[in-house]
Amino acid sequence: MIIREGAVQIETLSSFEKGPGKISPGFYNRSMEVSRDLSVALLRSLEPGIALDSMAGTGIRGMRIAKETSWKVVLNDIDSRNVEIQRKNASLNSLDIETMRGDYFAAVSSRKWDYIDVDPYGTPSGLVDAAIMNLKNNGIIGVTMTDTANLEGKSTVKGLRIYGSMSMNGTFAREISTRIFLKYVMERGAALGRAGEPLLVLREGHFIRVFVRFKKGNKVADESIKKFKLFDVEGKTVGPLYSGKMYNLALLREMEAFPFAENSRRIFSNFENEDLMFLFYENSNGKREIKKNKILDALHNQGYKAGSTNFNEKGIKSDAGREEYLKILESL
Ligand SMILES: C[S@@+](CC[C@H](N)C(=O)[O-])C[C@H]1O[C@@H](n2cnc3c(N)ncnc32)[C@H](O)[C@@H]1O
Repeated sequence: MIIREGAVQIETLSSFEKGPGKISPGFYNRSMEVSRDLSVALLRSLEPGIALDSMAGTGIRGMRIAKETSWKVVLNDIDSRNVEIQRKNASLNSLDIETMRGDYFAAVSSRKWDYIDVDPYGTPSGLVDAAIMNLKNNGIIGVTMTDTANLEGKSTVKGLRIYGSMSMNGTFAREISTRIFLKYVMERGAALGRAGEPLLVLREGHFIRVFVRFKKGNKVADESIKKFKLFDVEGKTVGPLYSGKMYNLALLREMEAFPFAENSRRIFSNFENEDLMFLFYENSNGKREIKKNKILDALHNQGYKAGSTNFNEKGIKSDAGREEYLKILESL
């Protein structure tokens, strides 16, 4: 079956329009289109270099990067059936692209990279260090985790064991899990003498994806952990989590012109709201819910920045303080 995404056509053996899909060689997963759109848009906005798609599957992400940006791309997968599909897909898209069949660790350590994409099934625990160690200075990793249940469920034990932080379920779970995962990736870098700078994060469907740039140096690495903090949220202690800025606004501006798929554009348009505050306001004053657009209009009319968040359908991000926000809610 041939599917189209971005500027490429890809032959797949099975295709899933929703959810994580079933683990199988040559599978295509539509729900990850936004993650690939963002990888391509991000790399297109940066100085080109050499990128490794370390767990490439059909090769769709790497091939899109090769076709839609000026980056040089290498594809790797452990499964020879996937590498065969990658070669077919390369020729289908008239791409002269290097493919490797091998284990992740062999691939990442085969040279130094400007970008490494880490897209495993489940948790990337155990994989992140090797990627960071094989980045050039100021290189970037894009990492996915799909074990969101470990950081957003009722039990916090597995999340604590894997990611080293206390999480919670409920309204704020998705932003807290994303910030814990960011902390985890940055912390791996800090332990290796690299400072992580988040460029972009995404919490969508069944996964979290973060893009982090790493700069070498013990001093900057020391600085980078200062924003790891514990918080009291709804009476529970959560964290340590990364409490700083999750987006690089200058890069977001560069990425705006990218021809995103419709759903990706909707998600992208909320990014610049996310760093207006830590967590978000709910559209309720405890007694009644108020239409989100009505609240947003009122905030804008009073000169505040405000918008929707991808972390919660009903959530509002704003630079208005809590007291001002509650006053506005009371007046509606
Ligand atoms: C989630 S899929 C990747 C999907 C792909 N990046 C995409 O965008 O469609 C994970 C891939 O990792 C590969 N894989 C699993 N273990 C690996 C290992 N140790 N080294 C390299 N690849 C591995 C699997 O064969 C599978 O193709």
